Amino acid sequence: MKKSSLLSVTAVVAASMLALSGCSAAPTGSTRACVILPDADSGTRWEPGDRPALEKALKGAGYEADIQNAQSDTAKYATIADQQLSKGCGVMLLVDLQGAGVAVAEKAKAQGIPVIAYDRPIKGADYYVSFDNAVVGQLQGQMIVDGLAAAGKDIKTASIIYSSGDPADGNAKMFLDGALSVLDAAGAKAAFTMEGTWDGAKAGTLFEQAFTAVKGKVDAVLAPNDNNAASIIAILDKNGLTVPVSGQDASVAGLQNVLLGKQWATVYKPFTVEAKAASDLAIALLKGEKPKANKTLDDGTPFVALDPIATTADKVKDVVAAGDAKAADLCTAAVAAACAKYGVK
Ligand code: BGC
Repeated sequence: MKKSSLLSVTAVVAASMLALSGCSAAPTGSTRACVILPDADSGTRWEPGDRPALEKALKGAGYEADIQNAQSDTAKYATIADQQLSKGCGVMLLVDLQGAGVAVAEKAKAQGIPVIAYDRPIKGADYYVSFDNAVVGQLQGQMIVDGLAAAGKDIKTASIIYSSGDPADGNAKMFLDGALSVLDAAGAKAAFTMEGTWDGAKAGTLFEQAFTAVKGKVDAVLAPNDNNAASIIAILDKNGLTVPVSGQDASVAGLQNVLLGKQWATVYKPFTVEAKAASDLAIALLKGEKPKANKTLDDGTPFVALDPIATTADKVKDVVAAGDAKAADLCTAAVAAACAKYGVK
């Protein structure tokens, strides 16, 4: 792990926390942090990663954490929010689901409850805590540039399939814009642009269509996360092709694909760091403080921005060393030789 960058983020957040005004009680008097996660399958992260990290950080500091999952259902998202609000929340941490977070943020704020948009932006939230999404996209674009160069292909003539995340997630555009800034500058052009989605199975179907449209000529695939990349790689595999593919999340499947050389790299966004930054902020708000952030979104929302880390095969061991992946999960029979090669143990 790039310790220096993580430390500098922690330092910025810690320094901002010191500059707080010192009241002592949550505006609503409640010490409950209410959290809504969006789904259990799109990113391989919300349940296995963010939930335990948030729970540990909030409960460890002595606060009650009510963490629910909307299971990809925007109506359920609204119902969960109503139930949480009727029980009482001192702060809300919302991961948006296709815009459902906006109405919830409005309701919470009408009751004097501060709202933190966690990972995905939400219009009207008081704070946004996330990795710097423009940088995530730039790292993804760079994966395609580096992967094509290593394959000895001219990026200007390469047949690249562009894909992206669900356009209803504000992050998806930031990832894509970041990637395009790098790809455009390198002279890349899309041979085919897929519809955006966070549904891995759908990404596979869309890629099959793209593959047919370009008559099987694919030199690289810009994929928005490891989950979509895994579906795309399955189809490339079926067709006997190994080309540079981007990703993000440092998921088990993503890291395995990186080790196997089927995915150029992944963007590692340690959820422990994100959960800690968000809970520090939530706790400050529960205490009635007014924390500062290190960045501001275009609409003026204070943004606690964290540093994402590009992870190629030789860096997978750093994710394991940081405790965010287990060698036992990564190094299955098919990956054992690659693990040995890259020192993952
Ligand atoms: C997150 C990614 C995740 C994707 C799908 C994005 O908003 O930043 O980490 O892979 O959603 O859940």
